[in-house]
Amino acid sequence: MAKVVHLGFLGCGNIGGGVWKLLDAMHDEILQRDGLDIRVERALVKSIPEARTDVPAEILTESAADVLEDPAVEIVCEFMGGEQPAASFMERALRAGKTVVTANKMALALHWHELQAAADQTGAGLYYEASVGGVIPIIRSLTVSLEADRIHRIMGIVNGTTNYILTRMAREGASYADVLADAQRLGLAEPNPAADVEGFDAAYKLSILSSIAFHSRVTVDRIYREGITGVTPEDIAFGREMGYTLKLLAIGKRSGNTVEVRVHPTFLPDSHPLARVDGSLNAIFLHGDFCKDMMLQGRGAGDMPTASAICGDILFAARAVRHTVPSFRNTAETDPALTVTDDWSTRYFIRMKVTDAPGVLARIADVFGQRDISLAAVMQKGSEGEKARLVLITHKARERAVREAIAALDPAIAQVVSCIRVENGEA
Ligand SMILES: NC(=O)c1ccc[n+]([C@@H]2O[C@H](COP(=O)([O-])OP(=O)(O)OC[C@H]3O[C@@H](n4cnc5c(N)ncnc54)[C@H](OP(=O)(O)O)[C@@H]3O)[C@@H](O)[C@H]2O)c1
Repeated sequence: MAKVVHLGFLGCGNIGGGVWKLLDAMHDEILQRDGLDIRVERALVKSIPEARTDVPAEILTESAADVLEDPAVEIVCEFMGGEQPAASFMERALRAGKTVVTANKMALALHWHELQAAADQTGAGLYYEASVGGVIPIIRSLTVSLEADRIHRIMGIVNGTTNYILTRMAREGASYADVLADAQRLGLAEPNPAADVEGFDAAYKLSILSSIAFHSRVTVDRIYREGITGVTPEDIAFGREMGYTLKLLAIGKRSGNTVEVRVHPTFLPDSHPLARVDGSLNAIFLHGDFCKDMMLQGRGAGDMPTASAICGDILFAARAVRHTVPSFRNTAETDPALTVTDDWSTRYFIRMKVTDAPGVLARIADVFGQRDISLAAVMQKGSEGEKARLVLITHKARERAVREAIAALDPAIAQVVSCIRVENGEA
């Protein structure tokens, strides 16, 4: 006998509409294969006359209570986006014993502790596979498949908009502003692109990934964040000549009880698997004691790929006899047992304009050398007026030492134009 599963949607735009379409297309197959008869009871929108959806008008509502207080609704699917009221609606649903499926990285990253506490209190489930990497099954991989491993490093391309912009800048030598304007025209970037291009979206996702990978809550406010607005085609071209590709990476590393969590433009060797992830694709590369290196890649956005991950959560939740909770310490603040460092060690690409005179390079190398920073490569490339263009690649160095060295350079001989971190995927 089929089990009837009643869903309520909070929000029915791109993603809600995609989930509706997928459930409609797959209804009979899921019923036959899994014995689940999935039905959408109500769908909340801001304004019914302006709703952008194929969902039948009779199930649309403008009242959240119609979804949250309907005793027939067992699974609440949140596709509103934003922090509030999405987070408080999800908490109300969980406190009423309804399982929640969400694609909302912002509300989850900011209110995870309260949401999990509400779920624990009533035994309801909280599922969020689509909140990071769209269709890429990274949440279940980390919380179930790799649970017995010890993950030390995660590096992710988790924002399709910025990856699209950087890919086109690299291919066409175009400026950030021109590619962004084009992406906005094509609907690939929001009219207000700050959440993507300033790295906020990637930071929410890194908070989720590092919390579950390192089994300890890491909150968004502890993540170092730098977006792509300052990236120039010149940096990308210089990097390419030296064998590097530029990506906006979300990086989480754990060593003992110390973690580093950072989102910033990063040069990767061209041979690294992440360097070949182009356009709006997402990918997550990780390293664990036993799994060693592995990478998952796929569509990080789009209504139907995201709907595929969400519907996977819906079926998982519908079949669950008891809801499982990932094994991490879901504290209100970052787990007090962790030290979040801002003095990580990596390599650096430093581009500068320098006075073209004998002895200048030695003086620059001395400023770096005094702070234990050694140079792996130096490239001089033409000149601008009386200034030579110089690019240095350092060996591994401490972040603070590099900042100090840059501040200590004599501006009369050297001005730093850009400083970009370089990763090779190792510890
Ligand atoms: N788009 C993607 O590719 C993608 C991928 C992964 C995850 N996500 C996540 O999925 C979520 C939804 O994204 P989306 O692209 O579907 O957004 P969207 O197209 O803007 O849809 C949002 C829906 O929520 C409704 N809504 C928003 N605020 C509301 C409020 N205060 N009261 C009632 N209804 C409200 C909107 O109603 P109206 O239509 O009346 O405005 C609309 O139906 C977000 O958390 C996003 O981060 C999206």
